Amino acid sequence: MSNSKQNDVVCVTGGSGCIGSWLVRLLLDRRYTVHATVKNLNDDKETAHLRALEGADTRLRLFQIDLLDYDSIVAAVSGCAGVFHLASPCIVDRVLDPQKELLDPAVKGTINVLTAAKAAGVRRVVVTSSVAAIIPSPNWPADKVKAEECWTDVEYCKQKELWYSLSKTLAEQAAWDFSKESGLDVVVVNPGPVLGPVIPPTLNASMLLLVRLLQGSNETYEDIWMGLVHFKDVAVAHILVYENPSASGRHLCVEDISHFGDFVGKVAELYPEYNVPRLPRDTQPGLLRTKDAGKKLMELGLQFIPMEEIIKDSVESLKSKGFIS
Ligand SMILES: NC(=O)c1ccc[n+]([C@@H]2O[C@H](COP(=O)([O-])OP(=O)(O)OC[C@H]3O[C@@H](n4cnc5c(N)ncnc54)[C@H](OP(=O)(O)O)[C@@H]3O)[C@@H](O)[C@H]2O)c1
Repeated sequence: MSNSKQNDVVCVTGGSGCIGSWLVRLLLDRRYTVHATVKNLNDDKETAHLRALEGADTRLRLFQIDLLDYDSIVAAVSGCAGVFHLASPCIVDRVLDPQKELLDPAVKGTINVLTAAKAAGVRRVVVTSSVAAIIPSPNWPADKVKAEECWTDVEYCKQKELWYSLSKTLAEQAAWDFSKESGLDVVVVNPGPVLGPVIPPTLNASMLLLVRLLQGSNETYEDIWMGLVHFKDVAVAHILVYENPSASGRHLCVEDISHFGDFVGKVAELYPEYNVPRLPRDTQPGLLRTKDAGKKLMELGLQFIPMEEIIKDSVESLKSKGFIS
């Protein structure tokens, strides 16, 4: 990995979150100075785990932002060479007011962050999108592997009330539109469900999915599952696309394209003492499995941690932090 940018000051929006904390940790390890944003500076649950990271005492500054408050974002990105935009509500359960809870913070928040980054002279913005902006895509040719050129079907999301997927898709589209119109350098990472050792004291949606599975839930997540990825690999992917000038466009970030049934079968095999349901392997009709789905990131040097190791790291972290017994 090139190290020419490692003295940069960079901003991580959503630095308090499960992926954000991993990214802040790896950036500090690589000698970056980091502006991490949180929603509430007075809440220890959002800040203590960040302040405890190695290097935080001298190279981490915390900023309170609200994605809908442009001025709060200006302060966080001021003086930064790069911005990693992760902050976005990650709620896959039912919501009462999708516009307010998901769509506005995702879409308006992305535009606010990019506008502030452009005004501050930021060189590159890495936007965290999701496989939720790639699937569901029911009209994609059945014999073609889903990859970066595949986009979520917005009308299908509206019909099935898949508000999280809609929020990520519209937010990513807004980011590309902004980049085209303003000339701002934007690169996108599209992770699948992210699992692994947890740094904050609260769990994100993907770790909660694993907890529920271990407790016997038989949900199949057919509209959002496309293969999983380790927290560390998602953080490394963000740094790779930031540091490599040749990186461009979208970057699918999954260790393999697999079905939820493959994952459930592996969890059951590794942890027979839990109440994991029996599911058929093929839980995603129309989703072709493939081994080199993350090849754009692999070409930049990422070696994906395999499924078995991701599951073990996740379950052991949940046990050691008391989320499961
Ligand atoms: N988890 C996954 O499997 C997955 C997969 C693909 C993509 N992603 C994307 O990765 C990003 C981070 O997700 P995560 O899993 O790390 O979730 P998370 O732990 O819930 O983190 C979300 C972060 O966004 C911040 N945030 C949410 N709404 C905000 C608002 N209105 N104003 C300011 N900050 C706000 C949160 O701040 P507080 O901590 O202060 O609430 C938190 O730092 C999101 O963009 C998500 O869509 C996640």
